[in-house]
This record gives sequence, structure tokens and C-alpha cells, in this order.
Amino acid sequence: MRACAIAQPNIALIKYWGKRDAARNLPAAGSISLTLETLWTKMSVELREGAHADTLTVNASENNTMQKRVSACLDRLLGPGRPMADVASESNFPIGAGLASSASAFAALVMAASRAARLPGDVLSLARLAGASSGSAARSFFEGIVELDAGDDEIDVSCISAASAWPLRIVIAVTDSGSKAIGSGAAMVRSAATSPLYDSWIARQDQDLETARQAVAARDFEKLASVSEHNCLKMHSVMWTSRPPVVYWNEATVNAMEAIRELKQNGVPVFFTIDAGPQVKAVCLPEAQGTVEAALAATKGVRRVIASGLGGGARPLDNA
Ligand code: DP6
Repeated sequence: MRACAIAQPNIALIKYWGKRDAARNLPAAGSISLTLETLWTKMSVELREGAHADTLTVNASENNTMQKRVSACLDRLLGPGRPMADVASESNFPIGAGLASSASAFAALVMAASRAARLPGDVLSLARLAGASSGSAARSFFEGIVELDAGDDEIDVSCISAASAWPLRIVIAVTDSGSKAIGSGAAMVRSAATSPLYDSWIARQDQDLETARQAVAARDFEKLASVSEHNCLKMHSVMWTSRPPVVYWNEATVNAMEAIRELKQNGVPVFFTIDAGPQVKAVCLPEAQGTVEAALAATKGVRRVIASGLGGGARPLDNA
């Protein structure tokens, strides 16, 4: 009754920031993301009949902060009276720092636990279950460029461009790898309750989704760059105008944005996006990757640069 799975984090270009149903963790609007290739989370789940509690280790150390969410996810997946589980997670990147670690973690957890329990379950059902634990995790079940549709009752998720069809590159400028002060789930609930910009942010999401969808279909990099940066800055405006404000940026975040703006002015095909953390993610065409990596590595306050192509969806690891 043990199984392993791997999933990669994803970076949203059209962002998820708001829930229409906090109890079911349903998003208020759709989103579009890139599944990464280089970063990963591996999960092993061992179901133990007769055990009295779940256990969780993260990178080989006991972890109490995520235990509740992991147990709630297993409850949802396996139902009442389920066996307890020993869960071990390993990631090759900083956790809880705005690098979408909850996306890859819950995608890998749901994939591994469903295999351990020999549950059938198509990918979309598993994605919906993972999304109930962390909205962005639903997107990590699919490869390449992924769209999550908020749906009427349930979300829908699908790949809208295979990883090989338009091989964009992502260069992440890590400016601080410490944990964030407030998690994205709590922060977006605060934004919905207090930001005067929240309603118009949600009302305009469909338009941005349509523009991004068109840009992906036509492989129009300029169009995707423009709508993605705009969408990112709108989300951060909602965060900044929440009470108390939700500010994830630091000085190096702004320096990295400035470096990307300069590259763009010099004709380099690149744009930025930033999530619930201080890291800056540059998205570029393959031929620009080296230039973007060098510019970000030389930017004041940037500690490390991680480059990635587009990767595959969550999948079982049979021999781990
Ligand atoms: C800024 O998926 O972490 O990265 O559903 O509450 O777990 P919960 O939120 P989460 O939020 C991700 C927010 C974001 C934007 C995005 O990935 O779309």
C-alpha cells in the first residue's frame, strides 16, 4: 500500500487570486499557467491499516505546519474510516517562498495517495481533488500551458499547448528563499473582503483569459507578454490595496523587474510575472534564455537564478 509520484510546480500568467467558495476552495475566476520542468516535488504515501495518526516529513524532517492540510487532503480523497498514512515529501527548491510549492506538493500527494489506495480516477477528477486543497495544484496535473476554467459547479482543467508546441523558457530570480509572512489562501480571502479593487479584478479576468488564449493559439509572444504583465500587476494592486496590505516584494524584486524592462527595451523577448512571494519569474523565448539568466544573475539582491523549460503533468513514479 505504498506509492510514489512526482509533480512540477506551475507559474500562472493569468492569475488565480480569489475564491468564490472558500469551503470547497473553488476559484472566483479562471487562470492560465506554465508547468515547469526543472523543479519538482516527489511524494511517497504509505497507507498503514491500524496506525493511529498520519505522519509527514518534508525533505527528511518532521513537518507540523503542513500536517493538517495533508490530512484534510487524504480525508477528501480516501473518505471516512481511511487508513492513516506516512507521507514523505522531497522538493528540489525552496518551500513556501512563492515558488508554487503547494501546487506541486498537492498534485504529487493526490497522485501518490490515489495509487497507494488503488483508486481508479481520471486525471481531471484527481486535479479537482488536488484543487480542493490548493487551487493552483489542479493545474500541475497537465503539461505545457494549462488553462483552469472556474466552471459552474466544478473546475475544468486542460492543457492548451503541449510543452513541445511552444517551448517557452522561465528564468526565476530568487531574491529571498525564506517563508512568506502570509500564505496565499488567507491573503486572497483578505483581499476579497477588503480591497476596493477586488470586484473589478474578478470582472476583468475573462477578458484577460481570452487575450492570453488567443496569444497562445497564435504563438504571439508580444501579446502574451503584455496581457501577462498587466494581469500580474493588477493582482499585486489588489494585494497592496488590501487591509492590512499584502506586500510580497522586496528591493531585489523591483531591481529584477527593472532589469527585465531594460532587456525588453533592447529588443529581448522577455516579460516578468510575480506570485505570492518576492521571486521574479522571467518568461522568454528559448534564444533569449542565456541573456536573461546573465542579466538577472547580475542584478543587485538576486541570490540565485533557476532556469526551466515547460514540463509534464503529475505522474506516478513506479520504481521510487
Ligand atoms: C499568486 O493555489 O496557493 O500563485 O488555493 O488557497 O492554496 P490556495 O491558493 P494557491 O494560490 C496561488 C496564488 C498565486 C497565483 C496563481 O498561482 O494563479
